[in-house]
Amino acid sequence: MSKKILLSGVKPTGRPHIGNYFGAMRQFVELLNSGAYECYFFLADYHALNLIQNAALMRQNSLDLAVDYLAIGLDPSKAVIYKQSDVSANTEAAWIFDTLVTVPYLERAHAFKDAESKGREVNVGTFNYPVLMAADILLYDADVVPVGQDQKQHIEYARDIAQKFNNAFGRTFKLPDALILENVAVVPGIDGQKMSKSYNNTIPLFATKAEIEKAVMSIVTDSSSDLPVNVYNIHKLFKSQVELEPIYETHKGKYKILKEMLIADIESFIAPLRERREKIAADVKNIHTVLAEGAERARAKADLKLAEAKRAIGVS
Ligand code: AMP
Ligand code: TRP
Repeated sequence: MSKKILLSGVKPTGRPHIGNYFGAMRQFVELLNSGAYECYFFLADYHALNLIQNAALMRQNSLDLAVDYLAIGLDPSKAVIYKQSDVSANTEAAWIFDTLVTVPYLERAHAFKDAESKGREVNVGTFNYPVLMAADILLYDADVVPVGQDQKQHIEYARDIAQKFNNAFGRTFKLPDALILENVAVVPGIDGQKMSKSYNNTIPLFATKAEIEKAVMSIVTDSSSDLPVNVYNIHKLFKSQVELEPIYETHKGKYKILKEMLIADIESFIAPLRERREKIAADVKNIHTVLAEGAERARAKADLKLAEAKRAIGVS
């Protein structure tokens, strides 16, 4: 029996943070290592183009994210690791899907509504974001898509689009399921809001010791309570509740000590990852080889599916 297919992507928009890691990337590694899935992990560079319109920065970010993937333990001999832009079939399929979805339907997408509510002029790429994402998923026959909570709606869009296509042209695409871990669905940032690059409240996944110290020392605490909730909620990612309870009981109200303990726990978690990342980053040629080989395998898979879709719609 063939394995289920697992696929996910991350936008190369700068250094990943521990919200990306605990919310999504850690699951990539665990699920890959479980051996239960045929895995595809990609850099969503065409999605990032909505935000990054600078060639040098795009190149650097993409290379960096590929290094990050390898450093967290995604093994290119076990998973297909590639750049979205290397697979033309993705953007071609997105066009086909564009003809199946309506404007009001896309207007209901959270990302679009957020951008619009900020009074920004929204580009068509941002508006169409969920359609390209549907193509990313559906062309690979993905069964499961591990993501954080903020991507849940996008996976529902991919399902809807698959269903619409299948209704119109006959069964072609599989309906994917999101895989979201409840306890880390939304990792909080140092201000207690969702951790996000755009809120400037992150702890970078490969942070230096000094960066960890600075971030933790700026965690917002509310002096009206003995329990510094924002500190505790981040600490929970690194130690179990059973381990944390006595610590927070003993040091009730002593925010500084608790923050120092959190710094030590984050540092001992990140230090080995950081070291591994440095070694991997030193061999740039290897990263390019990994991406080139991944692109070839991804194209082989996606092209077949696109050909099937083109037959179904009557253009070939
Ligand atoms: P992005 O950087 O937006 O491409 O996000 C990469 C992955 O990290 C996606 O699966 C997101 O859902 C996930 N993610 C981003 N921020 C958080 C957060 N604060 N908590 C949990 N998951 C997150
Ligand atoms: N939208 C996702 C994010 O911001 C990135 C992404 C693009 C993705 N295409 C995907 C994730 C397909 C999973 C599957 O995090």
